[in-house]
Amino acid sequence: MKVISVSNIKGGSGKSTTAAHLACALARRGKTLVVDMDMQGDLTDFCLPDLDLVALEESNVMSVLLGMKKISDCIRKTKQFDVLPSTLSLAKLTKYNPDSTSLCLQFKRALEEVRKEYQFVIIDTPGSAKHELTTAIYNSELILIPVTPSKWTIRAVNLLLDEIAQTETVFSQKKKIAFVPSWFGPSKKHRELLEKLKAIEEIPTLGEIPKSESIKTKTEKQESLKKDTNAWYAFDRLADETIALVDPEHSILNFRL
Ligand SMILES: Nc1ncnc2c1ncn2[C@@H]1O[C@H](COP(=O)(O)OP(=O)(O)OP(=O)(O)O)[C@@H](O)[C@H]1O
Ligand SMILES: [Mg+2]
Repeated sequence: MKVISVSNIKGGSGKSTTAAHLACALARRGKTLVVDMDMQGDLTDFCLPDLDLVALEESNVMSVLLGMKKISDCIRKTKQFDVLPSTLSLAKLTKYNPDSTSLCLQFKRALEEVRKEYQFVIIDTPGSAKHELTTAIYNSELILIPVTPSKWTIRAVNLLLDEIAQTETVFSQKKKIAFVPSWFGPSKKHRELLEKLKAIEEIPTLGEIPKSESIKTKTEKQESLKKDTNAWYAFDRLADETIALVDPEHSILNFRL
């Protein structure tokens, strides 16, 4: 089981969109569990558009993080993938448990229970440095950082890299990290920013996800991308690049970190 987080401290940087369509692409390659760790629930909405809210409140990612329910009792199954949904109540997570280490370990134990069932786990994370982010980073082998061109890009990336470094130090872990550039156009400003990211040592920059109306509208309509379109290929390639990083032995790409 390979656990991958999609993270950026900057809001609106394409985390949920990337997580959603990457999950669709990974699910074509192996059994995939989608975990929504963001109380906004955008990924939950995408994966489970018809979810009953009363049932959701009874079992969700928060129930698992607090050790109140078994993960298998909170996972919903769809045709494409299995989903551990989020809920707005996640806003109160730190009120119930302010200790991020115990949250990290609780989620580790939960994932251990389903280790044999899934080839891939994709975690969407909130756009801020909350305990949910630390829990996701701690439990992931690879952190994908979607980056969009903005004046905040480098600052936001550095804040997240600090957060990852802190988790690595506290828990003596080493994470794989990769950038996923989205929305970069041909302008000089965008290309220079992309070059700055590519210059950051030891962090590969994966293939670009285009700015695309179909990605936006399909995600909003909670639909998968149309097969064989440019957008579909971009995420299909991202799935191959992701596998090359977490499972090079089984990769069709000759690409190592
Ligand atoms: N490649 C793309 N092309 C066009 N629109 C996109 C693309 N990626 C994301 N968007 C749009 O940008 C907006 C922000 O994307 P998204 O919700 O995925 O960001 P996020 O990082 O998850 O935000 P938050 O921090 O609020 O969770 C959404 O309206 C989404 O449809
Ligand atoms: Mg999001």
